[in-house]
Amino acid sequence: MTALETASAPATTATPALACRGLSKRYGDVVAVEDVGFAIAPGQAYGLLGPNGAGKTTTISMLVGLLRPDSGTVLVGGTDLAADPTRAKAKIGYVPQEIALYPELTGRENLRFFGRLFGLPRRRLAARIDEVLDLIGLTDRADTKLGTYSGGMKRRINIGAALLHRPEVLILDEPTVGVDPQSRKAILDGVERLVEEGMALLYTSHYMEEIERVCERAAIIDHGRIIADGTRRELVSLVGTADKVELVLDGDVETAFAKLRAVEGVVEAARTGASSVRLIAEGGRYLLPALITAVDGSATVTATQVIEPDLEATFLHLTGSTLRD
Ligand SMILES: Nc1ncnc2c1ncn2[C@@H]1O[C@H](COP(=O)(O)OP(=O)(O)OP(=O)(O)O)[C@@H](O)[C@H]1O
Ligand SMILES: [Mg+2]
Repeated sequence: MTALETASAPATTATPALACRGLSKRYGDVVAVEDVGFAIAPGQAYGLLGPNGAGKTTTISMLVGLLRPDSGTVLVGGTDLAADPTRAKAKIGYVPQEIALYPELTGRENLRFFGRLFGLPRRRLAARIDEVLDLIGLTDRADTKLGTYSGGMKRRINIGAALLHRPEVLILDEPTVGVDPQSRKAILDGVERLVEEGMALLYTSHYMEEIERVCERAAIIDHGRIIADGTRRELVSLVGTADKVELVLDGDVETAFAKLRAVEGVVEAARTGASSVRLIAEGGRYLLPALITAVDGSATVTATQVIEPDLEATFLHLTGSTLRD
C-alpha cells in the first residue's frame, strides 16, 4: 500500500507547516503560475506532480522567498513569508533542482561550509553533519572529494545541506532527476525516514510512482494551475474504477475478440496486435475467470496483465496528455 492510499483527511486544526494561497507569477505574456494554493500539515508529505514547464520550480521559488509573487501569500508554520522572511525561511529546508557544491572539498567539508553559512555553531555542527551523512547514506564517502561523486551522490549532499538546520518543512525540487538507481533508492529511503520522524515535505516530480510512494496527498499542476488535489485514491477516482486488461491469445483471435467484447463489464475493447487485445472493464481484475472462459473453444489466453488506474491515468484523463514528453 502506498503512502497516498493510507492517507486520512488532513487535520484542519493544526497550523500548517506550509501553506500558500492565490500564488501567481507571470513572465511577460507567459503565465508561469496562476492562483496556486495548498496546505501541508505538520509531518505530512505533499506531492506536486506536473510535467516540464508546469510551474513547479516557479511555485517553489515563491515558497522559499527567492521569487516575489505577483500576488498571493505564503505562511511557513504560521509565519507570513512577506512580513517576516528571516523567521519563515529558518523553518524551511530547500533542495534546488540544480546542484551548487564545491568539487575540491569533501562531502563533509561541503556540509560544514553550508552549516557555517547558516550560522550553525561549530561544535553542534560536527555532530549534526554525522547525523545527516548517515541519513543520506554517505558516511562511507564523506571524506573523499566531491568531484569524484556521482550526480546522485552530489544530489544527496545537497539534500543533507538543506537538513543541517533542522527545518520543519523540507522542499525538494525533482530530487531524483538524472541520478543513478542506487542514489535514487537512498534519496527515497532517506525522505521516507524524515517523514516518519515527523518532517513535513513538499516533493515535486513528474514521476508519479515516486509521488505515490512518498506522499500522503498530492496536487496535479499543469500550465501553472492546480487542476486536482487530494489523496491518491481521491485523485485516481476521478478517472473512474475501470481497469485496463491486456490479453495475449493463441488460436482464432478474431472470434475470441468478438466473444470478449460481449462479456458483461467490458466497456471498451481493441485489438492491439495480431494476437493481443486490450479491454477496459469495470473491476477488470475480478473479470479474468469470465474472460478466460469466454474465449474457450476458439482460443487460449497465454498471458494477462491488469493495469489499475494510477496518477498517470488521472493526469491523462484531466489533461489529455502524458506526464513525460
Ligand atoms: N525566468 C523566467 N523567465 C521567463 N519564463 C520563465 C522563467 N522561469 C520560468 N518561466 C516559464 O514559466 C513556466 C513554468 O516554468 P517552471 O520552471 O516553473 O516549470 P517546472 O514545472 O519547474 O518545469 P520542469 O519540470 O522542467 O523543471 C514555463 O513556461 C517556463 O518557460
Ligand atoms: Mg522545475
